[in-house]
Amino acid sequence: MPRVFLQVSAAVACLQLLGCGGQRQVAGPPEPESLADVGRSIYLREQCDSCHTVEHGVPDSDEQVSLVKYGGRYPAGWHFAHLRDPTSTVPASTMPAYPQLFSQSFAPITTDAMRLEAEELAAVIREQALVDASWDQEAVAVVAYIRTFTPDPTTQQVEATPVLVAGPDPSNAVQVADGAAAFAMNCAVCHGADLTGFVGPNLRDDVWIHGGELVQIKSTIATGVPSRGCPSWKHVLGDVKIDQLTAFIYATSHSD
Ligand code: HEC
Ligand code: HEC
Repeated sequence: MPRVFLQVSAAVACLQLLGCGGQRQVAGPPEPESLADVGRSIYLREQCDSCHTVEHGVPDSDEQVSLVKYGGRYPAGWHFAHLRDPTSTVPASTMPAYPQLFSQSFAPITTDAMRLEAEELAAVIREQALVDASWDQEAVAVVAYIRTFTPDPTTQQVEATPVLVAGPDPSNAVQVADGAAAFAMNCAVCHGADLTGFVGPNLRDDVWIHGGELVQIKSTIATGVPSRGCPSWKHVLGDVKIDQLTAFIYATSHSD
């Protein structure tokens, strides 16, 4: 962690000296053409890229956190809450909070189309995060930008998939229905009743942090991701229920 801070101060020093091997492009395109463009220029102004990368970039160093997998993965309301207080969504987070993005307005540089887009996004955020969000808060534009980050298929790793002997079967309607019931009881609170995500990520799209094959989903549920807030279910639910949940999640994510 101290090394991350070092990196930030290095970036600041860099700006102050206006050096560091050429000009740093802070402003992005001169006339932002979309809400995401506005968000991008705020992202660069706040030097989010000192710890993360810009767009699809692969991290330059081990200290950088790639956002590629996470951008579109979490709902807009999650990102909004995370920017205001990262520990509200990731209890162990070491990312700084960004209160200024909630007090500053980007209204002066908007077009009608951007305003419309921002109003729609703010409405989604209000519903998902149950917070006040006004369309012109800078955080709304930053969320719009983050949401454009999607995994670059060329950099996605194809993991070896072990063969499942028995277990989850998404074509088995009974198993899927049992999984739906178990999901409502144990998982909906974090992943949303319709699986589109809240504290935990969306489970019905085709983007996966830990892999979307049956065996990968099953293994994620069984071991959980305790460091990031997904409990381990192995000892709570047992193998049969986990198979049902896996079948249900797989079937649902392939039904849209
Ligand atoms: C000092 C380093 C640092 C800076 C600066 C920083 N972040 Fe982060 N960020 C982190 C770390 C560490 C994580 C992983 C922990 C977490 O998710 O909160 C993270 C995670 C994220 C995530 C992904 C959520 C997740 O859980 O993986 C998003 C989105 C994000 N940051 C956006 C931003 C934005 C936007 C800015 C600038 C306004 C920013 N970050 C600035 C360190 C930083
Ligand atoms: C307390 C909140 C919480 C609960 C309850 C919860 N999860 Fe999660 N879940 C998360 C979080 C947070 C992540 C994201 C982990 C990460 O970012 O690496 C996650 C990730 C996942 C993933 C991986 C998604 C991916 O993209 O690879 C699966 C699958 C999953 N959860 C299934 C379940 C199931 C099934 C249940 C119920 C038995 C459940 N979760 C209950 C918070 C929760």
